[in-house]
Amino acid sequence: MNDEYRLRMEAQDLTKQPPTEEPERQYYFMKKCQEIVKKKSEEMGRPLTFSLTSFGCQMNARDSEKLLGILEQIGYEETEDEHADFVLYNTCTVRENANLRVYGRLGYLNTIKKKNPDMLIALCGCMMQEQEVVEKLKKSYRFVDIIFGTHNIFKLAELIVKRFEQQKMVVDVWEGTDRIVEELPSERKYPFKSGVNIMFGCNNFCSYCIVPYVRGRERSRSPKDILEEVRRLADDGVVEIMLLGQNVNSYGKNLKNPVSFAQLLKQVSKIEGIERIRFMTSHPKDLSEELIEAMRTLPKVCPHLHLPLQSGSTRILREMNRRYTKEQYLELVEKIRCAVPDISLTTDIIVGFPGETEEDFQETLDVVQTVGFDSAFTFIYSRRTGTLAAKMENQVPEDIVKDRFDRLLAEVQRISAKVCGRHLHTTQKVLVEEPDDHAEGYLTGRLGNNTIVHFPGDPSLVGKIVDVYLEESKGFYYMGRLEC
Ligand code: 5AD
Ligand code: SF4
Repeated sequence: MNDEYRLRMEAQDLTKQPPTEEPERQYYFMKKCQEIVKKKSEEMGRPLTFSLTSFGCQMNARDSEKLLGILEQIGYEETEDEHADFVLYNTCTVRENANLRVYGRLGYLNTIKKKNPDMLIALCGCMMQEQEVVEKLKKSYRFVDIIFGTHNIFKLAELIVKRFEQQKMVVDVWEGTDRIVEELPSERKYPFKSGVNIMFGCNNFCSYCIVPYVRGRERSRSPKDILEEVRRLADDGVVEIMLLGQNVNSYGKNLKNPVSFAQLLKQVSKIEGIERIRFMTSHPKDLSEELIEAMRTLPKVCPHLHLPLQSGSTRILREMNRRYTKEQYLELVEKIRCAVPDISLTTDIIVGFPGETEEDFQETLDVVQTVGFDSAFTFIYSRRTGTLAAKMENQVPEDIVKDRFDRLLAEVQRISAKVCGRHLHTTQKVLVEEPDDHAEGYLTGRLGNNTIVHFPGDPSLVGKIVDVYLEESKGFYYMGRLEC
């Protein structure tokens, strides 16, 4: 695939003005940037390096693969270490502590940059979509070179060229966009699995959440573009894909020719070579009967559903603007379990939303116990400026939230240790992901329901789907052995 991108880049004529059409314009700037990088690297007598750190969710991780693809085309070489010539942070702002981490690391980068003044520091992603963040950076973090947002990551090469040319901070953050630029390079972290964006943005405005403000309104990619991308990935050896969107269940509603998410799943399922299909994230209010039926009948769709609960209290759910009740959530779980009995359910839960009482919290614990989630991401409510909940007056004191958080986490862990082991002493299909970090001669892989298994095996099996007998349950993962 990379050859195709390289050829498109080489075909650009730098003696002419940059094209106005995308993505051609970006191929022009990639070529231009490549020349600058090459020249600098000859001057320095070594390759120029980059380091890219991705914070936050799967959408950001996928964006980072695109950023990585562009940087590699340009000729930068990746290094793990932040002592690089180009350091890029793809930021998250869903919770306040994500922002604090970035400011902390910027302080450290500044000390490195003092020793290497040619180093470039670039920041992009959700945090950059907040005006006060950009103001703060412009005022107190003058050593940052490039700032861009979530809507124009495809412009990375153009922005680097601009920074080289103008020798001062480049800031390019778009408030929103209705365009999706296709056909740019991307570099996958794993050769055998990949995320595929099917939509961008979110229209739900849950009252605590900053995502709709920083990722903009919902935009779906056309089924044609998605299917083409999946076909190419399959040709390139990918066996597992994860369809990504903030709310995949409302996929396709705003297309010229509307298509449902279930219909998309059916089409993706037909692509030869793709063995496993996952998707993330589902909003309970939009999860249709049609989708449940698709999950029941399409064998490639993995028996795993991430279904964020956020709270078990109907009163708090209303305040959160989630548009379902505790009872509706539980009914939905029943329906899904009835259709796909073995399904693994995971969730997100927030504790300490404004006005949450001990009774509300008990309702959350009740849902956790009733459903028996395989795992749950638990979060302490974080007040995000600009959201409706930030203006609510009855914020819960920190010590109470912390106490509830600890109790919730203990319960979630107790339950998941119990339910995760339900496939013990059976043989399951496992996609081998990598050699085990902790045990020599062992491999790490995942079951269709996303549970991890470690087993002895040869690294040549990485990327293959193999049969593994699950010998021992360790709570959150299994130990197993290969079945011949
Ligand atoms: N505070 C805490 N958690 C939050 N999330 C989103 N916004 C906030 C916030 N302000 C959580 C939700 C969401 C997950 C991705 O992050 O649980 O599902
Ligand atoms: Fe945020 Fe709600 Fe949209 Fe998820 S559905 S991104 S929680 S606003």
